[in-house]
Amino acid sequence: MASLVTLIICITITISQAVATTDDNTLGIGISNESQSKHLRELTMQQISLRIPYFSNNGEIRRMIYKINPDNKLALSALRSCQELLPLAIYNLNRSLSTDVTKAGAISMTISAGTTLQMCIDGFEDQPRVIFESVNNKLKYPIDLNRVTIKTMAMRSPKRSPRPCKKNPPRCQPKRNEDRSKRNQAEAMRPSQHMTTRTSPRLR
Ligand SMILES: *[C@@H]1O[C@H](CO)[C@@H](O)[C@H](O)[C@H]1NC(C)=O
Ligand SMILES: *[C@@H]1O[C@H](CO)[C@@H](O)[C@H](O)[C@H]1NC(C)=O
Repeated sequence: MASLVTLIICITITISQAVATTDDNTLGIGISNESQSKHLRELTMQQISLRIPYFSNNGEIRRMIYKINPDNKLALSALRSCQELLPLAIYNLNRSLSTDVTKAGAISMTISAGTTLQMCIDGFEDQPRVIFESVNNKLKYPIDLNRVTIKTMAMRSPKRSPRPCKKNPPRCQPKRNEDRSKRNQAEAMRPSQHMTTRTSPRLR
């Protein structure tokens, strides 16, 4: 049953690749799409930069934490994490724009940037609602932008999108550039490598 599902998924991917290839070839929109995804990543970096003051030591969220409870160590530690996570997200997006990065590597780095922003929000999960909502609203736009970017990138070159076939049946064997893309995926800096401490324990 599971392998049947895998097979169906693989066939679907194969078909969508064929369709996408046809579109690229007949309509010639590949290039404009690539510049679109580049523009989106630049815009996302810019939007993240604009939010850095909000997370700074005299920023809005710090004042909000102090006003509610100045001894809220978990909130302050979550804030410190965000101060590292936002630049890390920018770093990964910027790195994805580098010309020596493969498409799959760039997608992986872009996904990693989104995860990094989400980690900042997650640190405030158990905080008073007004604080959590404020952080969540602050990062919603760059996260949404990032999602659109990933879709655009995956759409443009589905052949190399890092969508692994779980069981690797013959039809799903990655065809080419596997080594290069693997290397680039490993290069994407993950928050877990970078961050040595957890921001807040999950109480659920
Ligand atoms: C990218 O190209 C696809 C067709 O290959 C098209 O449907 C899609 O709208 C394009 N994306 C953007 C964001 O222009
Ligand atoms: C992006 O990377 C380049 C080097 O590749 C660097 O010069 C530039 O300052 C970086 N931009 C940001 C926003 O980090």
